[in-house]
Amino acid sequence: MNFEQIDKQYVLNTYARNYVNFIKGENATLYSEDNKNYIDFTSGIGVVSCGHGNQRISDTISNQAKNMLHISNLYLIEPQAKLAQKIAQLSGYDVAMFFGNSGAEANEGAIKIARKYGETKFNNKKFKVITLEHSFHGRTITTVKATGQESMHTPNFSPYPDGFSYNKSINDIYNSIDDETVAVMIELVQGEGGVQPFEKEEIQKLEKFLKENDILLIVDEVQTGGYRTGEFLASNLYDIKPDIITMAKGVGGGVPIGVVMTTMKDIFSPGDHGSTFGGNYLVTSTALEVCNILDELKNNGKLDETILYFERKLKEFYENNQNIFTGMVGLGLMRGLRVLNSDILSSIISNGFDNGVMVLKAGKNTLRFLPPLTISKDEIDEGFNRLNKAIADIK
Ligand SMILES: Cc1ncc(COP(=O)(O)O)c(C=O)c1O
Repeated sequence: MNFEQIDKQYVLNTYARNYVNFIKGENATLYSEDNKNYIDFTSGIGVVSCGHGNQRISDTISNQAKNMLHISNLYLIEPQAKLAQKIAQLSGYDVAMFFGNSGAEANEGAIKIARKYGETKFNNKKFKVITLEHSFHGRTITTVKATGQESMHTPNFSPYPDGFSYNKSINDIYNSIDDETVAVMIELVQGEGGVQPFEKEEIQKLEKFLKENDILLIVDEVQTGGYRTGEFLASNLYDIKPDIITMAKGVGGGVPIGVVMTTMKDIFSPGDHGSTFGGNYLVTSTALEVCNILDELKNNGKLDETILYFERKLKEFYENNQNIFTGMVGLGLMRGLRVLNSDILSSIISNGFDNGVMVLKAGKNTLRFLPPLTISKDEIDEGFNRLNKAIADIK
């Protein structure tokens, strides 16, 4: 049996997989078994923020592995404490955090914090969480229910937990708040929903309203966190102070991590929440190095330079192909091009792959770009050259 056959026989069928076998990665370039190379404009869906095969990350992991990988959360974990301090410093907020293993798990933690707040702070319990229709918050039973996309609430997995409702727009949220509403949970740039950023003013207005009415603002930064939008958090860019923020993907650079942080530093007591693997030596020592690398990249101006260069190249590509693309969306290195229809979008992605460039889909009609934050100018140029070839076949 070859690897494709083994995969098909033994791995559950949850992804429409492409059966290329990558054997090596260098920054934003991947090499496959059959000697082809690919420019990676996906970074494993926003995860490999410091690029593939990063030497500093590799050294950190191997040094940690030689020593110890896991002890358990029953004892002090030095890199966990240091990572929490670093994330708090980079965020600029007065927060404490909990470490889990994924974005969905971080969001579960956020919902638990909100529910405990709703139980303990008011005479009449508040428990309802409002989210948006085009949101994406994860794949566990609760975060699937928190996700506003109707297609995610299939009867296959019902019954779902109560207490979630959805609005079309930020403006609609005001009217759907009631006495039982404890929190509003949003992404500032909807990733899976179509790389759609909200207006700063409407978010600031919502933040003010929620604060005045004692309702929590939860910002899901699973995709935007870790400098993806150009600032450590999109919340920094929007100049808001959420009560709860979640992060995952890029902050681990490839090791599985979920972070839920809150300004309510005393909300949990021992026994309220936990995770066997969450925050262990392997993950937190790596994420700490990821944060150091990205902090340096931001401070020496390289991140902002890369964002501007990528934006310029994307704009050229967009303007030269107005017959295919209808709009340019996104922020930082989280970008999208709206495509005329979903058939053309699928063709661009598969032709792109055949021409050696990897791009993603978001929503029904958005071509999505999430390159490593360390991508070089040469890799950006080469990626767009290959994309131009890919769409020449479509035009
Ligand atoms: C905004 C957002 N929240 C949550 C998740 C779920 O994260 P994970 O797949 O790590 O559970 C994702 C994943 O794409 C996401 O983009």
